[in-house]
Order: sequence, then C-alpha cells, then structure tokens
Amino acid sequence: MVTGGASGLGAATVRALAAEGACVTVFDLNEKGAEETAAAVGGRAVAGDVTVPEDCQRAVDDAAAAGPLRVVVNCAGMATAGRVIDRDGSPHDLAAFERVQRVNVVGTFNVMTRAAAAMARTDPVEDGERGVIINTASVAAFDGQIGQLAYSASKGAIVAMTLPAARDLSVVGIRVLAIAPGIFDTPLVGFLSEAQRQALAESTLFPKRLGQPVDFGRLAVAMARNSYLNAEVVRLDGGIRMPPR
Ligand SMILES: NC(=O)c1ccc[n+]([C@@H]2O[C@H](COP(=O)([O-])OP(=O)(O)OC[C@H]3O[C@@H](n4cnc5c(N)ncnc54)[C@H](O)[C@@H]3O)[C@@H](O)[C@H]2O)c1
Repeated sequence: MVTGGASGLGAATVRALAAEGACVTVFDLNEKGAEETAAAVGGRAVAGDVTVPEDCQRAVDDAAAAGPLRVVVNCAGMATAGRVIDRDGSPHDLAAFERVQRVNVVGTFNVMTRAAAAMARTDPVEDGERGVIINTASVAAFDGQIGQLAYSASKGAIVAMTLPAARDLSVVGIRVLAIAPGIFDTPLVGFLSEAQRQALAESTLFPKRLGQPVDFGRLAVAMARNSYLNAEVVRLDGGIRMPPR
C-alpha cells in the first residue's frame, strides 16, 4: 500500500513496487489520480484522507483483502512556509502549523498503526518477517531552512518515530524505515522557478540534478527487499546540505 500514491514520489513507488510483482493499493485524497495510477499497474485505489482514521482503516482493509499486506510506504504529505515571526513581526499562524503536523505526522501515525495491526495478523515469511513500513521524512528534518519551522517539525517527528516504531514492531517481525529525500522534481516543488531549480541542482554534490521520483521508488524497493535494514533513516539527496535559505 502506498499513501500519496496518486502523485510524485508515491506514484513512482507504486510503479516500482508493481514492477516487482506487488499488487499495490493506492491511497490518496486525489481520487482520480489514485484511480489512474492504480489502473496503470493493475492495482487498487482507495480515496481518502490520512488524517481520518476510518479512511486509513478502509485503505488497510482493502489492501489486506487483496493478499497479505507486506509493504506500506507513507508518501502522503504537504508543505507550508512560515517563519517564527513574520516580516511584519506577527507570530507564525497556529492553524497552518497544526495542519502540517496533522497531515504529515498524524497521517503517518494513523496509517502506520492500522497497517501494522493488519501486518501483524499475516503469516510470517523468511526470518519470521511480516513486512516493512517506510515513512517519508525530508532533509528538512536535519537542515531546516528559513521558513520551514512547521514542515521541519513534522519531518523531525517522522525521523524520531522510526526507532521506537521499529522497536515496538520487532516482536511481530515488522521493520520500520524512513527516507529523507532532498529536492525532488514533483508537483510539491512546482512553485520553484527555473532559476531556483537550476541553483538547487547546482548545489547538489553529485549528480547535479534534482531527484527524480524513480530514484525514490528504487530505494523503497531496495528497502523492502533487504530484510536486515531496520530502524534507519536514509537521506536520498545527492549529498545536498541545505543552507539557511
Ligand atoms: N518533492 C520533494 O522535494 C520532497 C522532499 C522531501 C520530502 N518530500 C515528501 O515526500 C512526500 C511526497 O511528496 P511529493 O513530492 O511526491 O508530493 P506530491 O504533492 O506530488 O504528492 C503528495 C500526494 O499526497 C496526497 N495527499 C496530500 N495530503 C493528503 C491527505 N491528507 N490524505 C491523503 N493523501 C494526501 C496528495 O493528494 C498527493 O497525491 C511528502 O511527504 C513530502 O513532504 C518531498
């Protein structure tokens, strides 16, 4: 199951998992996008909101009905910009801060907990493994830039959940990992001008380009395949270290 699978990193992960033979359930707020992505790989689509526990349960139930749930990749997420105090001295808007935590942190929590419960009921395979949950953080968890207060807080939470979740789920043979992407060419960064994209590509160590969604999908598959990889956050960023602005 892939959340946020209608677009960007999630859609690439759907394609990468399907190419390995997985039957993928695409869970996204964007119903049309989810259906299109799923149809292209013979997968299943569930429209819903990761902040709504019942929607998450419906998606997990759908995925588990298709076969044992083994791989869950949480890509649903959003970004916002805002400083601690704005240019005119007014404090960061609380509603905007809370919204990002709701989607990125509570959404990941909702899916992870419900998916883990379903995975725990499956028969184990090799080494007693039942599956893997891969959450999406960001380099903003470590190199938060000016204006990324809320987003960095949400991605820091994803990083911080990795170890305790892996510890909790070790008893049922479920691994927990996180990917911290650098700058990827998806609709999420559609606001960047061509000049900004060029500058970001230039500030990447190597290769000097933005990340492509396919790079992310490949890592998700590699993580799923390697059962000794656990409780780890992997930066996927071409070596970029984000400056203050
Ligand atoms: N693109 C980047 O440079 C980048 C960098 C670091 C981290 N990330 C993270 O990667 C993840 C995927 O981002 P992307 O670049 O593919 O963005 P995207 O906007 O292309 O895709 C995000 C998807 O999540 C879905 N979504 C949003 N809120 C939802 C909700 N409440 N319930 C269900 N679905 C919801 C959207 O409909 C969309 O299909 C996000 O968590 C983002 O923060 C992206």
